[in-house]
Amino acid sequence: MIADVVIGLSYGDEGKGKVTHHLLKSGDYTHCLRFNGGCNAGHTIYHNGKKFVTHHIPAGVFFGVKSIIGGGCVVNLEQFRREISELEENGIQTTGLVFIAHNAHVITDKHLEEDGADVAIGTTKRGNGPAYRDKYERVGMRAEDVEELRSGPYLISLYEEFHNTLIEPSVLCEGAQGFGLDIDWGDYPYVTSSHCTTAGALLNGIPPQAVRRVYGVTKAYDTYVGTKDFHGKGREFDLLQQLGSEFGATTGRPRQCNWLDVRMLRRAIIISGVTDVIINKVDILREVDRWNLRSYTGDKIYIQTGNEQSWKQYIKRYLEETNVNIVFSESPERI
Ligand code: IMP
Ligand code: MG
Repeated sequence: MIADVVIGLSYGDEGKGKVTHHLLKSGDYTHCLRFNGGCNAGHTIYHNGKKFVTHHIPAGVFFGVKSIIGGGCVVNLEQFRREISELEENGIQTTGLVFIAHNAHVITDKHLEEDGADVAIGTTKRGNGPAYRDKYERVGMRAEDVEELRSGPYLISLYEEFHNTLIEPSVLCEGAQGFGLDIDWGDYPYVTSSHCTTAGALLNGIPPQAVRRVYGVTKAYDTYVGTKDFHGKGREFDLLQQLGSEFGATTGRPRQCNWLDVRMLRRAIIISGVTDVIINKVDILREVDRWNLRSYTGDKIYIQTGNEQSWKQYIKRYLEETNVNIVFSESPERI
């Protein structure tokens, strides 16, 4: 078995969808696996000139690749059905391609109602936290408990699918959210409820030795959505928000903007064993024309300023010891 992993290195919204879509074009994969999160994620994908926003269904479906919502996910079945219809209506065939792991947990109306009342974290109000809480409290409902799913075509066992088969699976694992929102490594309590690192992919039936490449995705600047104070002070941050269209794909909320935190980036790379880092939206930073970074001496934060060349050089030097390949990307369609 071979597995490549795509993960976020910041606070979500790094452009993972673009990277996944690009990798799938190679035709190398038999499966595409969403391994964490629920419909809090919103993946924006441009496919054959059309814009799609998917929340649950992995991008493999656009390429006729089996697309699985893994056991590390929580699923809103109403949203799932809506996505199936939207894809079908737009000419994307889903029959025999879309699956839900039998052990994925189900988001119920009660979860939605509870999460809807959140004011502390600024969640996406999609019921994720309460669904994961019930999973760990062992009172949750799994996909396999849903009568309608049991008699339908969607349920799958990740063990059977990946390990009890004659075909050697080649899996693209698609993460949701990012390192800064990870339940364990993120800025607790301003985090999501799932594992956003490479480890999160492994929990879905991917043996560690199967992992080939880990693609870590970030932007040339950081954005965050939630209640903590994150947006930098000054006009340039508002400009960044406008020019970068930094408004949530799921909730439409403005994303708070700040300079790229290179220390968090390095930590995220090391913890997840990232082999390739893609730094998106360099074109937006160029438009704003402020080549700034957040860096540290000891624990003291400072703003590193420079020009495009020194900015890239600083990042390369800062990440040197991790041995990652770095790609600076400046197009919404290409990496
Ligand atoms: P929850 O995941 O809905 O519980 O929200 C917890 C935190 O994660 C909040 O700050 C959300 O804004 C943030 N969050 C969750 N999913 C995403 C995402 O896909 N992109 C960006 N932020 C997210
Ligand atoms: Mg998003």
